[in-house]
Amino acid sequence: MEPNKEKWGSRLGFLLATAGSAIGLGNIWRFPYVTGMNGGAAFVCVYIISILIVGLPLMIAELAIGRAAGCHPAWAFDRFTAGKRTPVTDFLGVAMMLSGLLMVLFGRPGHAVLLLLFGIFLALKGWKCIGVTVGVIVPFIIMSYYGVIGGWTVIYMFKAFTGGLEFATPDQAASVFTPIVSAAKGQEFSLCSAHALFVAAAAAVVFVGVRNGIEKSSKILMPLLFILLGALVLRGISLPGASKGLRFFLSPDFKALGPESVLIAMGQAFFTLSLAMGITMTYGSYLRRDVNIVRSSLLVIGLDTLAAVLAGVAIFTSVFAMKLDPAQGPGLVYMVVPSAFNLVPGNLGWLWNGLFFMMLTIAALTSFISLLEPLVGYATRQFGFSRHGAAVLTAVAVYLAGLLSAFGCADWRHLRPVEKFFKMFFHDAGPSFFDLADNFASNWMLPLGGLAIAVFCGWVWGSKRALKEVRRGTKSGRLDTNLLVLLAGFSNREYPGQSLFTPAILWSLAIRWITPVLVIFAFLYGIGVL
Ligand code: PHE
Repeated sequence: MEPNKEKWGSRLGFLLATAGSAIGLGNIWRFPYVTGMNGGAAFVCVYIISILIVGLPLMIAELAIGRAAGCHPAWAFDRFTAGKRTPVTDFLGVAMMLSGLLMVLFGRPGHAVLLLLFGIFLALKGWKCIGVTVGVIVPFIIMSYYGVIGGWTVIYMFKAFTGGLEFATPDQAASVFTPIVSAAKGQEFSLCSAHALFVAAAAAVVFVGVRNGIEKSSKILMPLLFILLGALVLRGISLPGASKGLRFFLSPDFKALGPESVLIAMGQAFFTLSLAMGITMTYGSYLRRDVNIVRSSLLVIGLDTLAAVLAGVAIFTSVFAMKLDPAQGPGLVYMVVPSAFNLVPGNLGWLWNGLFFMMLTIAALTSFISLLEPLVGYATRQFGFSRHGAAVLTAVAVYLAGLLSAFGCADWRHLRPVEKFFKMFFHDAGPSFFDLADNFASNWMLPLGGLAIAVFCGWVWGSKRALKEVRRGTKSGRLDTNLLVLLAGFSNREYPGQSLFTPAILWSLAIRWITPVLVIFAFLYGIGVL
């Protein structure tokens, strides 16, 4: 496969687009409540450590693979293995087929079919199979339900600005939120049109292209996002009683921090950095050789963490100042936060809510754009579509698949035939279609994809060769200088000598051993084995 012709126009554009992908619902909706429940600042510390030992090495690996291959993940792995099967994939393929057969004995037909199909595909196609899964199938599944949440956010933004969110308690808020989530009678039109609007907006950006679409829009949307976030933080911390919220969010409580929190932190690190879904790899394939991958990854991680913490501050200062209960899950952002903003003195609830949901829409939109791009890139290469044709077709497909989540978010009520179909294979298909899709993608595919990428980079391509790619764009010798010497601001020339603690060695160790092992633990936790 020929390398991509399209490239980012500037380093800043790449950085903002990648940060736009990373900063999404995971930062604003999930991070704050997970932190609140898991010991505040203590959790933030664990989270930062897991981001540094799991997220950073993987992000560097994805960018390096993407840039070295210069093409979509579906072909990227293949370029290094010359399209041949490898012992790792042969072994895994056979192991999966055998476990598929075992599943038949255990009476789990769905797992059996999935494992058998995947095993056969893996044994026949090798790394291409993993590339297609990571770069096409997983983004498609995630996009289908992520777009639905994007639609809710758009509805909320409109409602806020037009005075439709004027409730003062989370109970009243439920009368707005529940009908939307459960796709109640009378909601169909707004649900479908907001969802369509959201998907169409992302498709329009991808339609225009990498440089003029994704890059330009990120350069406008990302600064806007931080401005809105800044305004909400200022509003929050200037309220009397805000400090209680800060205390809840950030005071370290090491007792609330269990072994579980570590695994939760790792799962969050994965999702929030958009790793293992082909996105970072695709964005890496548009990257010029002179860009410093390590520095860019650190910057993206920094911006992502900053957005998450700012969102937490904005949310919890207002919620606690208004003496509301910090709920968990979607209830926090769609019910408690709007109630709190409505109670803020000055009667400007519509404005604060409008700005908040505008910010959330932007965050979700830039992430959604990044999910769409790998699919469009794949369709143009695999089927020879033009970018325009591919963008329209992919958007329509994603929208239609998303309807299943839109109408199957709260329960299976609207989707009885689909429920029957899934329950034939998966007896415990979960409480709703939405749940099924999210569980499959977040708990199964992301960790397994991350594991595959780490193993590929560390062992199959090899960390030595990968490092060659990482070194391009890095100041010479930087990666081979003792970390302490580097942090102290010196170079190898001033402090020569062998060292074990160079960034290059630490990264290789991480990508070969530490990341894979930790990801396996996070996976076992996610699927309920640990
Ligand atoms: N990183 C995004 C977030 O934090 C989520 C996301 C997941 C984006 C998957 C793209 C793909 O919300």
